[in-house]
Amino acid sequence: MAEDRKQTVTDKIITKNAGLGIPQSGGRLIAFEGIDGTGKSTQITLLAGVLRQQGYEVVVTCEPTNGGYGQKIRALYKSRDSVSPAAELELFLADRREHIGKLIAPSLTAGKIILTDRYYLSTIAYQGAAGLDPAIIMQKNAFAPPPDLAVIIDLSPEQAVKRIQQGRGEALNSFEHEDYLAKVAEVFRSMKMPYIRWVDGTLAVHDVQRQIMAEVQNILPGIPA
Ligand code: TYD
Repeated sequence: MAEDRKQTVTDKIITKNAGLGIPQSGGRLIAFEGIDGTGKSTQITLLAGVLRQQGYEVVVTCEPTNGGYGQKIRALYKSRDSVSPAAELELFLADRREHIGKLIAPSLTAGKIILTDRYYLSTIAYQGAAGLDPAIIMQKNAFAPPPDLAVIIDLSPEQAVKRIQQGRGEALNSFEHEDYLAKVAEVFRSMKMPYIRWVDGTLAVHDVQRQIMAEVQNILPGIPA
């Protein structure tokens, strides 16, 4: 019941937010979202290659960024207990403001296609899973231009954790524990924004890419299948 109410509030804010923010004059903003270990960065690299071949100017970027706030956030990976969820949220928001001001807004204005590895849906999901209210997190992101498309790569937390461990051969950081990722996945699943498209992350890399291309064609009708 309380969950339903939260979702309704979140949806209202999202509808209100749609169309606000920075004018997108020809550019496109595509966010890749989902829990850790789903293969976002592989898919971003592939999509950037295809779009560049078609003559588009593509900017590949990520959050947390490599700026000052992003570095502070990365320092937290190892000892997340040293900061409250509310303070952590403020760091992600400050990083995003800088990211939008320095890179996303100017690139949109210049008509470029921006592919970002994570954006505000990650904040709703991860900081929501850390105990903050998703509707309030959404409200605090009202400054951010909504993406034209948010691809969420769907994979179970069990499979995701297995991939992280196999791929990196190292211990999980504090954002990556399976029970936390399960909560994060639940918040992602509850999202109803019109620009969200789910793709099946259990498939082979090129099949995931095919699903993503079909979605990208909807917002960039010029590109061939
Ligand atoms: P990740 O994409 O894994 O970055 P990197 O590959 O550079 O380590 O993101 C780092 C973690 O930050 C990831 O577990 C998700 C988390 N995160 C949030 O908790 N909130 C946010 O708003 C964002 C953008 C990321």
